[in-house]
Amino acid sequence: MTRIITLLTLVALVGISSCAQPSQQATLTPEQQAAIDNIMTRTSIRSWEDKAVPAELVEVLLRAGMAAPTAVNRQPWHFVVLDKREKIDLLASGRGGGMVRKAPLAIVVCGDMTLALEGDAREFWVQDASAATENILLAANAVGLGAVWTGVYPIADRVNQVREALSLNESLVPLCVILVGYPHEHPTPKDKWNPDKVSRLN
Ligand SMILES: Cc1cc2nc3c(=O)[nH]c(=O)nc-3n(C[C@H](O)[C@H](O)[C@H](O)COP(=O)(O)O)c2cc1C
Repeated sequence: MTRIITLLTLVALVGISSCAQPSQQATLTPEQQAAIDNIMTRTSIRSWEDKAVPAELVEVLLRAGMAAPTAVNRQPWHFVVLDKREKIDLLASGRGGGMVRKAPLAIVVCGDMTLALEGDAREFWVQDASAATENILLAANAVGLGAVWTGVYPIADRVNQVREALSLNESLVPLCVILVGYPHEHPTPKDKWNPDKVSRLN
């Protein structure tokens, strides 16, 4: 009887520990860790030094954006770069105008509807342009810049405002404005890890 109880206790303990699923931290090479660290340390930056972003770095950001995956590889995007004060300020009449006026660089990520898929798949342009946006944010963080994604689409008023302010071609739909510069603030990245938001089909 004692043996049976001991056995049942052991089985129960094994069961509990396998349910708890302790986190398994992988051992990464320094290069792998650096890539992951770049993702984990990215955080929205909304205050910048009064210092221009060099053209070579702007191209680094744009190349990163265009490296994003897109549905059927359509790359249905267009990037409007504003690096002159008077051009960036064209965007300042909307929400967050104060922040816009202080940003040394703005990249308006647009969907190009002449390149978008047809039918139900048309709206994939949003995911494509969002993937490009995140790539730009990550590239900015990697090269010591700080950026924030400011949302435009799908809010019609904001879409019209940006379109009119920049006299965009009517085939372009602005998804967001990324404001970029050298960070004047260094907020701690938010820890968003939450295992409750993960489920597994066993
Ligand atoms: C679709 C989208 C729209 C956003 N719009 C704005 C915005 O208009 N203004 C702003 O300051 N931040 C904006 N953000 C940034 C979020 O506020 C920010 O990502 C969020 O608070 C999490 O903080 P983190 O980026 O530091 O991790 C936007 C982010 C996304 C993805």
